[in-house]
Amino acid sequence: MSCFRISHSAFLKMVGDTPLLKLNGTRETSHFSMYAKLESCNPTGSAKDRPALGMVFDAIRSKAISKHTIIVESTSGNMGIALAHVCARFDLRFHAVVDWRTPDIALELLEAYGAEIDVVQRYECRENDHVRARIRRVQELLRSEPCAYWPNQYGNPWNPKSHYIGTMPEITRSLGAAPDYLFVPVSTCGTIMGCATWLRDHGCHTRVIAVDVIGSGIFAPSVGTRSIPGMGASGPPELLNSAFVDDFVRVTDNECVISCRELLDNEGLLMGGSSGAVMAAIHKHRAKIASGSRCVLIFPDAGDRYLKTIFDDEWAAGFLRRP
Ligand SMILES: Cc1ncc(COP(=O)(O)O)c(C=O)c1O
Repeated sequence: MSCFRISHSAFLKMVGDTPLLKLNGTRETSHFSMYAKLESCNPTGSAKDRPALGMVFDAIRSKAISKHTIIVESTSGNMGIALAHVCARFDLRFHAVVDWRTPDIALELLEAYGAEIDVVQRYECRENDHVRARIRRVQELLRSEPCAYWPNQYGNPWNPKSHYIGTMPEITRSLGAAPDYLFVPVSTCGTIMGCATWLRDHGCHTRVIAVDVIGSGIFAPSVGTRSIPGMGASGPPELLNSAFVDDFVRVTDNECVISCRELLDNEGLLMGGSSGAVMAAIHKHRAKIASGSRCVLIFPDAGDRYLKTIFDDEWAAGFLRRP
C-alpha cells in the first residue's frame, strides 16, 4: 500500500479541462479563425500543472519516492510553482533550483507553496546557459542529499504524456474535430511533443507549428540572450523529435512584448510572454494559412506574472528601446 494517504481523484479533477476561447482576430487574420487554449486556468496558473502532476503521480505509483523524499527540480518558474503545489498536497518537501532571472512573483509563489529555493547566480551561468547551470546545481543536490529525487522535466516521459492524455484530446473535443493548425511555444518541448504525438496516433491532418524565440538554439544553432521566461533552450531538447513538427516560426523578444500588449488591447486578454510569442508567430505565418482554417494557439500562462515587466509601461518602453 502507498504511504501517501491523500485522495488522488479530487486533485486530478482540478487539472486540465481548460477553456478553448475563440479570438476576435484582426483584419489581417480574418481569412482564418483562431482559438486560444487558456492553460492559465489550471490550479497554479500554467500548463505546467499537467506534467507536474503526471511526474509526481508516476513517482508515487512506481514507488520511486516515499514520504521522506525531497523533490528537486530545475525551473524557470512555472514548473517549480506547479511542483510546489503538488508536493504541498502530498506533504513532500520540494526544492526549486531557479536562476537570477526568475521574476520576484515566481519566487513569492514558490515561497507561498512552501518550496525551498536555490538561486543560481549570473556568474555561474557560463555561456549564458541558465538551464545547464541549474541542472549542475540539481546534480550537486542529488549527490549531497540521499533522499533527493529529480523528476527531470527535460526527459521525463510524463511531461509530453500529460499533454497527450489531456491537452490535445480536450482541444479536439472542444472544437468537434482536430484543428487545421496548432501553434505551440517551445522550451522542453513536452507540450508540442505530447500534442503532436496524439495527432499523429489519431491520423489527424493538423499542421503543428513550433514557436521559438530568436536567441534560442532549438531550431537554429545561434544562441543569444533571451528575456521571455519559459521560452527557448540552448539546444535541441531531449524530448524533441523534429519529425513531428511541420514548421517553426521564430520571433524576437520585442515581438513577444508588443503582441502581449496587443492581445490585451484587441482581445481583453492579459496573457504571458509565450502567449504573445504565439500571437506574433501566427501573424508572421498568416500568408501560409489557407482560408477557412481553424487554428489553435496554446497560451501557457497569464499576464499577472508579468505585471512588473511586459505590462509595466516604463519597463516596456525601456525594453523596446534597448539597442
Ligand atoms: C510560460 C511558458 N511558455 C511556454 C513553455 C514551453 O513549454 P514546454 O516546456 O512544454 O515546451 C513554458 C515552459 O516552461 C512556459 O513556462
